[in-house]
Amino acid sequence: MRNFDFYNPTKLIFGQGTLEALRTEVPKYGKNVLLMYGGGSIKRSGLYDKVMAELSAIDAVVTELSGVEPNPRLSTVHKGVELCHEHNIDLILAVGGGSVLDCAKAVAVGAKYEGDMWDFVERKAAAQDALPLGTVLTMAATGSEMNSGSVITNEVTKEKMGWGSIHAFPAFSILDPENTFTLPRDQTVYGMVDIMSHVLEHYFHNDTNTPVQDGFCETLLRTVIETAPKLIEDLNNYELRETIMYCGTMALNGMVSMGFAGDWATHNIEHAVSAVYDIPHGGGLAILFPQWMKYNIDTDPARFRKLAVNVFGVDPAGKNDKEIGLEGIAALRSFWDSIGAPKTLADYDIDDSEIGSMADKAVRFGPFGNFRKLDREDVVEIYKMAL
Ligand code: NZQ
Ligand code: ZN
Repeated sequence: MRNFDFYNPTKLIFGQGTLEALRTEVPKYGKNVLLMYGGGSIKRSGLYDKVMAELSAIDAVVTELSGVEPNPRLSTVHKGVELCHEHNIDLILAVGGGSVLDCAKAVAVGAKYEGDMWDFVERKAAAQDALPLGTVLTMAATGSEMNSGSVITNEVTKEKMGWGSIHAFPAFSILDPENTFTLPRDQTVYGMVDIMSHVLEHYFHNDTNTPVQDGFCETLLRTVIETAPKLIEDLNNYELRETIMYCGTMALNGMVSMGFAGDWATHNIEHAVSAVYDIPHGGGLAILFPQWMKYNIDTDPARFRKLAVNVFGVDPAGKNDKEIGLEGIAALRSFWDSIGAPKTLADYDIDDSEIGSMADKAVRFGPFGNFRKLDREDVVEIYKMAL
């Protein structure tokens, strides 16, 4: 293992009926609340009314920023920062999926910075402070509810990039699986693909002596694989939603990834696609991850064998590591097919016309990926395989 520090200050409040925790958590930070949410799902589900009832019970003064886009945009971050200054905001409350939470993180650091928050995304500056942030999660996917990362799209330059800061951890996050009941089947699938992809990004590393971490990852993957087919047929099943919600948080809150460096190339490759075509993140990952795996299997066939045998139950008898690993990749592909995840870029009407510019975006900070470093040519090949 590598030496590591582990730090995660987010208070996780998990379970049925936990929304009422707003009454005790919000007043810790002050009266003036910026309530951020997306395109209206929380109004349709009734969650908006419930949140407002909790906030009015504690006499919070609420300013709203609605319409946060999936793949949240820098212009929306700027609006949020202005509102924080104008209304002397004490706490940002993000109610929604990863996009709303990520946008709220950007607003939280932007409100405490003289320049443009985009400087943090471009690595020109590092955040030194932030407004406190609370979240009410409505979609299991990104892990943003308990991590320090955020992904923002600059719609002018068509760049979509991740950034992170210890100041961006939510102070508290409320996770009631019931708030995910209204998530439609396709988004539920994208969320589960994203969760599995986070675990796979961890799993492909070159560090040694990580038996506990590898086992945690395998358990998370097996659990999503067992749960997903049942959940897509039974979207209002509390226990299935609960399982997936817990998997989503655990997959990217640092708990299963201590002591090694995961790969993370596929996320970079996907972000360049959703920057240009504005497709759902999980949909892009479903297309690209199996291709990344095929492209890189020779880097460490034994690692691919371990995944195939321990997660997909591939019978290793009489085969070499690469053959077993390829069977595992095929099993992942057919699992994602079985739950209706997209398979090729053509599924989103994406052809080869932007491959060059997407590859340029992906290598913006140079070659990337910890399992195997990829350069521009490698990225082009992976996009071509995914057409
Ligand atoms: O906007 P509303 O109306 O709320 O609708 C949303 C949106 O259209 C809808 N939705 C969410 N909860 C719902 C619901 N509809 C009905 N009922 C509910 N309970 O679902 C749609 C997608 O929501 P979004 O927040 O965009 O999805 P997700 O959670 O997958 O977030 C995706 C964003 O997070 C980034 C992605 O790149 C993408 O920009 N990521 C963030 C990460 C992080 N912070 O750690 C890591 C991830 O790898 C990822 O890159
Ligand atoms: Zn992701």
